Amino acid sequence: MRVLYLNPSGQLGGAERSLLDILASLRAAFPDWSLGLISSSTGPLVEAAESLGVQVRVVTFPPTLARLGDAALRRTQHALQRHLALVKNLAWAGPQVLLYQRQLRAAMAAFAPQIVHSNGFKMHVLAAQTVPAQVPLVWHIRDYVGRRAVMARLLRWHAGRCALVVANSQSAAEDVRRVCNLPHEKVRTVYNAIDTQQFTPDGARLDLDKLAGLPPAPPETVRVGLPGTLARWKGHETFLQALALLPPDAPVRGYIIGGALYETEGSQLSLEELRQIAAQLNLADRVGFTGFIREPAAALRALDIVVHASVAPEPFGRVIVEGMACGRAVVASRAGGAEELFTEGVNALGHPPSNAHALAKCISKLIHDKDLRAALGDAGRRTATHRFDRRRLAEELTPLYRSLALDASDERG
Ligand code: GLC
Repeated sequence: MRVLYLNPSGQLGGAERSLLDILASLRAAFPDWSLGLISSSTGPLVEAAESLGVQVRVVTFPPTLARLGDAALRRTQHALQRHLALVKNLAWAGPQVLLYQRQLRAAMAAFAPQIVHSNGFKMHVLAAQTVPAQVPLVWHIRDYVGRRAVMARLLRWHAGRCALVVANSQSAAEDVRRVCNLPHEKVRTVYNAIDTQQFTPDGARLDLDKLAGLPPAPPETVRVGLPGTLARWKGHETFLQALALLPPDAPVRGYIIGGALYETEGSQLSLEELRQIAAQLNLADRVGFTGFIREPAAALRALDIVVHASVAPEPFGRVIVEGMACGRAVVASRAGGAEELFTEGVNALGHPPSNAHALAKCISKLIHDKDLRAALGDAGRRTATHRFDRRRLAEELTPLYRSLALDASDERG
């Protein structure tokens, strides 16, 4: 089988790490398959995929295409302004997009895929416009389409070209079915999965204090951290507000682990903005910022409490599963696909999105109850190995790929 993946970034956010898990799972199950990746920029994704034996081609997005997105438009107040901004952006991007399509077609032809699997909104659209008609196209939906005004329209227009949609949770699946008007069976849920041999309770731990430039914390300090990219809806502010609600003498230190990764304009907070918010909340010496981390498991193991605080429903929320796999107590924002990953009070605690008081209450409970932390961590580890081990990805995707390839060869006669 020859499967070609398309990704609209060379960075390593959750979508890319999930793609690498798919590649690793297929590589282990079928060493003879040819796996290819076209990435829109160089970056750590490219190296990681190459080290798995994937044939990688970088076909660089022109700058206007890299920056184009709904996020910046959403921050513009008026509908008319938004509309004008979009028309302007599209007009600017138009010729560059045509050129890019040509380059993409050539790179795809060189790989001669049986299946093309795209991993991100911009690539879904570009793939629908460029993948040869006889090659089945799979869209991997990892975010709510309904939340993106422009993307929703573009995907609806192009959905007919796509043979199958894979979504990272039931909640994301329902959203794309509704927005793109797709029949139930055309959208399948394949939950993300992780390397449970890498995300383990025991192993190397990063020195988060040192990375954040803070003095060492006293030994009894409980470490609580929010890992992830700095996307605006990931709840960094809620997390900081929750920390500010804890008594100043609570034996706790907070960490924001991650950096602004993606180029789409307006989509990410900067570390500087977050530092300012922390300073305004008088948290400067109680919160550390590590920036982007290459070893997520070692960062999670350095924490006692792993926080997920997205203020909008989270399509999946890898950090919840990674924290559970590392046997840490997880506090998650209870909405969207994230809610499908844990059972309240058994393998994680939940709080309503944007509710800093409720989040502070969960953190406070865990700071003072070591046994509860351990119980949640043990149960979380069991959940992660049963439900979220990445060997499952090859098992779930293979029958889908095979049936698509078969249908395509039947059609060719
Ligand atoms: C996107 C989603 C996130 C998910 C990740 C991997 O980043 O926002 O919820 O965990 O993709 O599927």
